[in-house]
Amino acid sequence: MVLIKTKREIPSSEITPEAVYLSRRKFIGQSSAVVAAGALAHSTFALPDSWIEDNGYEPMDEIGEDITPKKHATNHNNFFEFGTGKTDPAKHAHQMTVDPWSVEIEGLVEKPGKLSLEDVIKDIDLEERIYRLRCVEAWSMVIPWIGFPVKKVLDKVRPLSDAKYVKFTTLLRKSEMPGTKALFSSIEYPYVEGLRLDEANHPLTIFAIGMYGKVLPNQNGAPFRLVVPWKYGFKSIKSIVKIELTKKQPQTTWNLSASHEYGFYANVNPKVDHPRWSQATERRLPQGLIPRSIKTKMFNGYDEVASLYEGLDLKKNF
Ligand code: MTE
Repeated sequence: MVLIKTKREIPSSEITPEAVYLSRRKFIGQSSAVVAAGALAHSTFALPDSWIEDNGYEPMDEIGEDITPKKHATNHNNFFEFGTGKTDPAKHAHQMTVDPWSVEIEGLVEKPGKLSLEDVIKDIDLEERIYRLRCVEAWSMVIPWIGFPVKKVLDKVRPLSDAKYVKFTTLLRKSEMPGTKALFSSIEYPYVEGLRLDEANHPLTIFAIGMYGKVLPNQNGAPFRLVVPWKYGFKSIKSIVKIELTKKQPQTTWNLSASHEYGFYANVNPKVDHPRWSQATERRLPQGLIPRSIKTKMFNGYDEVASLYEGLDLKKNF
């Protein structure tokens, strides 16, 4: 079993009045907490405090991986729009206005247009997914996201038959993003990312609007980000304002910056090293006095995606 499981479910009595509890269901072998997004606005979404604060998250004996404490997941970030230091996003991202928020749907879709975040999540159930996040820099965490499959949004806007890729774009608002005003920058803005359409439609690929039972903090990509757990973290683009369906493979930020170091696919692969460091192991955060190194798994342990890449040379298509 490669999926990280959560034992936690949300009793209906514990949901805040704004939320309407619908059902619990099994999701690809993972018991996931499900609440109705319904007409919930981003600002009104909340899970009960008692769920988090009283009980905390327990270690998951089944696979023996602990959830990364929230303070580490929210204070060790990559969000270059707010600076390149790991603590810069936590320091500066509060400046970003995330409400109201809208998303442009463009390109090869039946229903293009501008959707409010409320429209994006309308009638979609929210689920908790506990995923490993493996950064290309060789550190990793285990994060409990709240979100929903990307497929559910794509089904709403209906890709045309010639659509083969999905391109995502992050907000670029210089007045609120000090990192985008730096004189020298290793990447260009806005941050862009992309997936093949079948990768985007894979049930493990989600949009997250929350983590640790709460709305996403700005530094983690509020109000709305991608999470693709079998790929290096840079594919999981934050604070999305545009979704475009394309015929051609879209350009992506890190690939544009250094194409020999960062490929389009960016599948976690312990056998394909970064030109400047090994990808065979990773440092699971937080690190104590004695460094904790664990073996990196192919596809970050999410073997069920392997069939997406049958016949593809993953050394060439890194
Ligand atoms: N999205 C944007 N817009 N800008 C970024 O700099 N960094 C990426 C990804 N998404 C980044 C981004 C990288 S390198 C990683 S590892 C993850 O976000 C980190 O997500 P986290 O800060 O929530 O752990």
